[in-house]
Amino acid sequence: MGYFSDKVAVVTGGASGIGEAIASELSLSGSIVVIADINIGEAQRIAEALSRAGGRVFALRMDVTDKASVQFVLDSVIKSYGQLDIMINNAGIVVISEMEDTLEEDWDRLIDINLKGVVFGMQAAYKIMKQQGGGQILNTSSSSGLSPTPLFTAYSSVKHAVVGLSTATRIEAAPHHIKVNALCPGVVNTPVATGRNTSRGMDLEILSGGLPMMLSPKRVAKAALKGMKKNKAIIPVGMDSYLPYWANRFVPGVYDFVLAKGVPLVRSYMKNE
Ligand SMILES: NC(=O)c1ccc[n+]([C@@H]2O[C@H](COP(=O)([O-])OP(=O)(O)OC[C@H]3O[C@@H](n4cnc5c(N)ncnc54)[C@H](O)[C@@H]3O)[C@@H](O)[C@H]2O)c1
Repeated sequence: MGYFSDKVAVVTGGASGIGEAIASELSLSGSIVVIADINIGEAQRIAEALSRAGGRVFALRMDVTDKASVQFVLDSVIKSYGQLDIMINNAGIVVISEMEDTLEEDWDRLIDINLKGVVFGMQAAYKIMKQQGGGQILNTSSSSGLSPTPLFTAYSSVKHAVVGLSTATRIEAAPHHIKVNALCPGVVNTPVATGRNTSRGMDLEILSGGLPMMLSPKRVAKAALKGMKKNKAIIPVGMDSYLPYWANRFVPGVYDFVLAKGVPLVRSYMKNE
């Protein structure tokens, strides 16, 4: 019997990109998966496709910014299955913007979805897992949560907060047999140019056109499951996550130099100058 066999898992933001791939990998590994997403139409379509392929996958509408909505989904899971083994707090948006251009509404959306959304998911799951004697929580941060990421300043700030939230809670949670992991991928090929994501003064289409080093969501999902099995505190994925992470820790001067040289080039590329 595998690590994920017959585990009950909830994946927020499971109707697209990384969340969809994690839901699929968990299902293939034998878990019962609830895709919890604000986009219930897509969540249902994916749940049906994965179920047709032999999985046990269901969809429920969840808005991670609404504590009651998060609680409702977890209550429904407990009512149906009696347990919650895995909580994947993954729903998120991107704001591409320099600090000086970032609007208050951008900060609010990022904090509400990418940070408080994770907090609500963690708190609701933690209570259940503590009572049942254990569980595992994976929070999707980003390479931007591990090292400075100019031009994504607000996004990077909030993703750093998700790493801090995860690593601090991990220590508090260990005596309750609750594992906490932070997933930190580099750039992943997901639908970035959607209405959910925002750019201030830079071209979102450039990213959606695909960059050579982009990771596939499937690769990220496989790394996430491997990291969960090993119970890694931080799970970087891709060279564009590992390299800045280690460079910033061990040769910060070199890292700053590279950023100082590289950022003007990336800025003019993304501004189509
Ligand atoms: N794509 C990347 O390059 C990349 C890199 C590192 C980390 N991430 C992070 O990975 C996570 C997933 O991103 P993705 O690239 O797969 O994006 P995506 O846009 O493909 O998927 C995000 C999903 O979240 C859902 N969602 C948005 N707001 C929600 C809300 N309020 N409540 C519930 N669901 C909501 C969307 O409907 C969508 O299904 C995010 O946290 C993102 O910051 C992405």
